[in-house]
Amino acid sequence: MTVTHRSRILGVGMALPKNVVTNHDLAKKMETSHEWIVERTGIETRYWVEPGETGASMGAEAAKEALANASVDVKDVDLIIYATLSPDFNFPGTGVFVQRALGLRDIPCLDIRQQCTGFIYGLSIADAYIRTGMFKNILLIGSEVHSTGLDVSTSGRDVTVLFGDGAGAVVIGRATDDKHMILSTHIHADGADAEILWTEYPASARHPRISAEAMAERKHYPTMEGKRVFKHAVTKMPASIMEGMVTNNLKLTDIDMMIPHQANLRINQMVGQMIGLPPEKMHNTIMKWGNTTAASIPMCFYDAIKVGKVKQGDLICFVAFGAGLTWGSAFVRF
Ligand SMILES: CC(C)(COP(=O)(O)OP(=O)(O)OC[C@H]1O[C@@H](n2cnc3c(N)ncnc32)[C@H](O)[C@@H]1OP(=O)(O)O)[C@@H](O)C(=O)NCCC(=O)NCCS
Repeated sequence: MTVTHRSRILGVGMALPKNVVTNHDLAKKMETSHEWIVERTGIETRYWVEPGETGASMGAEAAKEALANASVDVKDVDLIIYATLSPDFNFPGTGVFVQRALGLRDIPCLDIRQQCTGFIYGLSIADAYIRTGMFKNILLIGSEVHSTGLDVSTSGRDVTVLFGDGAGAVVIGRATDDKHMILSTHIHADGADAEILWTEYPASARHPRISAEAMAERKHYPTMEGKRVFKHAVTKMPASIMEGMVTNNLKLTDIDMMIPHQANLRINQMVGQMIGLPPEKMHNTIMKWGNTTAASIPMCFYDAIKVGKVKQGDLICFVAFGAGLTWGSAFVRF
């Protein structure tokens, strides 16, 4: 028997830490300025957790809102997919902590590690599971706590000013018509430049996993070759968008809203210009939330719905690029 269900996004939710961190706050800790950060990245504020706020607690909060907006009872969730580059603990994965916070037991929890492309990979996995008929309602969560792992001294300023904490979640269920469905997902990776954006320590590949020497050299903080990352992003994101448009036989004018990963406003503006997308057809939230990695797309999508830029039935293009390197796109009729 062939089972061919299609999937759709039923509801969206998000959560933020309470504590807002402005560029001026950062300038008190490192040599930087509000003007430098805004000019290069567009970021004005980001939110950073305080003790007690975790990836799991924000993920659960976002999930509850997504379930309420989807009108899906938490007991009807068949699978949790949790995308992050910043798990709460080394192991087990954070998905089980979200499961526990939601009062669920027994259902599978799948943690995935594709950084800023995590949400697109998660959508692709959820779509495939629903198409086979294996699962009916899937909770996909992107959640990140960057702030506890960032170098807030001047030596870490190129990376630290970019990142924010937060969570976004969607409920993915079966489509009942072709007006609301995930049309396509395309996911890619290339490990050739894996080290241009990474955190080397602590690592099971190192003996010992962490040492005073490694910490003195600040190797437990993320490092990035910013210009190379930028170039990859403005190459791979337009290519991913085109790939999805060709697959679905779409014109640029068919897209109602582009929801790109929020890494840098300048990257997104350049991607828009390269493909000829009118600026009003792209939504950005990096100015207020910074780069929240796997959470950035569902948070930006949530915001676009909230401000009335996206409504049911709209054709949405999600596109992302991140460490790995990883990249991909998803076309969705919401
Ligand atoms: C990080 C990024 C904004 C830096 O911008 P850039 O124009 O490449 O800047 P550079 O790295 O060449 O640095 C220019 C100068 O600013 C300095 N600088 C770096 N970070 C700074 C900061 N936060 N504040 C002030 N000055 C800073 C550098 O030290 C350098 O100084 P120098 O000229 O004296 O050596 C940019 O490369 C970028 O956005 N890259 C992509 C990042 C990204 O998207 N990552 C996530 C991918 S998912």
